[in-house]
Amino acid sequence: MGTVVEDIKDKLDIAEVIKGYITVSPAGKNFKACCPFHHEKTPSFMISPDRRSWHCFGGCNEGGDVISFVMKYENVEFYDALKLLAERAGIDPSRLRGGAGEYRKYDALYAINEAAKEFFIASMPPHVREYALGRGLSEATLAEFGVGYAPNEPDTLLRTMTKRGFSVQDICEAGVVFRTERGTYWDRFRNRLMFPLYNHVGKVVGFTGRIMPDDPKAAELAKYVNSPETPIFAKSKILYGFHATKAHVREAGAALLVEGQMDFLMAYQAGVRNVVATSGTALTGEHLETLRRLADTLLLCFDNDEAGQRAIERGIDLALAHDFSVKVVALSGKDPADIVRDNPQALAGFVAAAGSARDFYFNRYLPQSVGISHDHEALKRGVRAVLLKAKALPSPFEQSAWLKELVMRTGMSEHVLQSEMDRLEAPHGAVVPLRVSAVPYGQAPAAAPAVRESRKGLIIRRIVQLGGAPELASFAPEYVAPEISALSEMKASLDGGDISPEDRAKEVMLLVVELEREWRKEKIAVLKGAIIEAQAMKDEVRLASAMREFDTFSRQLHTRVDDKTHK
Ligand code: GTP
Ligand code: MN
Repeated sequence: MGTVVEDIKDKLDIAEVIKGYITVSPAGKNFKACCPFHHEKTPSFMISPDRRSWHCFGGCNEGGDVISFVMKYENVEFYDALKLLAERAGIDPSRLRGGAGEYRKYDALYAINEAAKEFFIASMPPHVREYALGRGLSEATLAEFGVGYAPNEPDTLLRTMTKRGFSVQDICEAGVVFRTERGTYWDRFRNRLMFPLYNHVGKVVGFTGRIMPDDPKAAELAKYVNSPETPIFAKSKILYGFHATKAHVREAGAALLVEGQMDFLMAYQAGVRNVVATSGTALTGEHLETLRRLADTLLLCFDNDEAGQRAIERGIDLALAHDFSVKVVALSGKDPADIVRDNPQALAGFVAAAGSARDFYFNRYLPQSVGISHDHEALKRGVRAVLLKAKALPSPFEQSAWLKELVMRTGMSEHVLQSEMDRLEAPHGAVVPLRVSAVPYGQAPAAAPAVRESRKGLIIRRIVQLGGAPELASFAPEYVAPEISALSEMKASLDGGDISPEDRAKEVMLLVVELEREWRKEKIAVLKGAIIEAQAMKDEVRLASAMREFDTFSRQLHTRVDDKTHK
């Protein structure tokens, strides 16, 4: 018997574990799959049962063992992954407790947070309950999410916890108590309404506490105080409430993103169940990757003030870069919690009326007032702001729709707008498009989220729309045929738009170049797979030829191409 980690790796076949999450196919002694951590159509995710490891040779170029796979896929910390896998491997759970210090520590951190939650619930006096109910929270919601109260005392929690046998050091490390510079210990939260923060498997890993409004120092203190990051709590990963709503998110294929506990709980209580919240931190790519596995639509629902609008803008850019279809819920001057308190039915109405990201940007940067005024500078700023957003869009199809809308709003010609857009440079630090796949949680969902059209599909569609089908002849029929035949069914509804023959020819030409790039990217992905396989099977001949081809294609992808055949 080795360590728990060794035993897990010995007892579990890594391929069997990963098969429980994604579809894999055999490749010699190994297995391959489309990488669940980035978007791809050709498998570059390899699993080697012999080496007990996985590796993505595509976009992520990352790898690890069975434990790191589960951590990444489930977005859980090391110890949680270990627990899940130990159970599966039939390893005695007591070996995770009591045993080696490392694991005992994790257990203590969870136990302290859980005990603190019970303490806060038990400490809730009537006037605090009144405050919570007065904000619109129901008894059922308070109970379901374990809302409590941290008394206005220096160290009651600390004393309660030590009496229960936890060490001061562990209590500090769990984040609920902190050590002052003078070496004394203080409860971190005082006179606050306490919301336990749950990880994605539903265990308490920290807290956020809202100051009671009647606190004499309420004006000076931070409105919300959060637990610090600990080995079991990473703010940038955890979405508040996700443990309770992930099934709803998957079912709806969409997630409603709000800010903070109040908005989450009130939306949840009002029956909007596919909701999640960021808590004490801005939205991160990790949050989005977690959601993207279950949903392809993100609805942003933030406050109406300028900070909220900026958060929406950032959210849109980040979500588009993660291949979400994004919508913005416009609220009438109140935050979601207030809307629900005033009328529980109203929120669903606002959500149903969510507008597109495009509408959001046009209304923000080119409101009617700018369009009709003769403030040329304001108009120029607005147009440029929108063009910058359009330029960053991964889909030429979408881009063209934005330009058309701009033509309508400003009366400028598409040609002028296009050349202005070409000249604009993305500001430093702009979000760069990257794609993540929508692999379902655990297994295939009953109602799979609608598959979004691929970039290749979009390009081909636009070419056909512009009457450029003959230009596609230089591509291998099996590469373009499936898309084209799908298109022929809807040809009647296709319309190239009102553009001159020269513009049409120019656009087709650009699209063909784009399509060439897509084709090369696919080729490269296939070759990477071949290289891995050849390496695994020690097939030197195949390896050499695949490497040669790979070099040629990647060089072509990064330089201008003059070879005009793609077969
Ligand atoms: P109420 O005022 O109780 O309705 O809360 P709210 O959720 O409406 O608060 P607000 O809109 O001011 O802030 C939204 C979210 O930002 C909060 O839920 C917190 O997660 C976070 N936040 C607000 N104020 C603070 C603060 O002072 N410190 C920290 N760390 N986070 C804060
Ligand atoms: Mn509020």
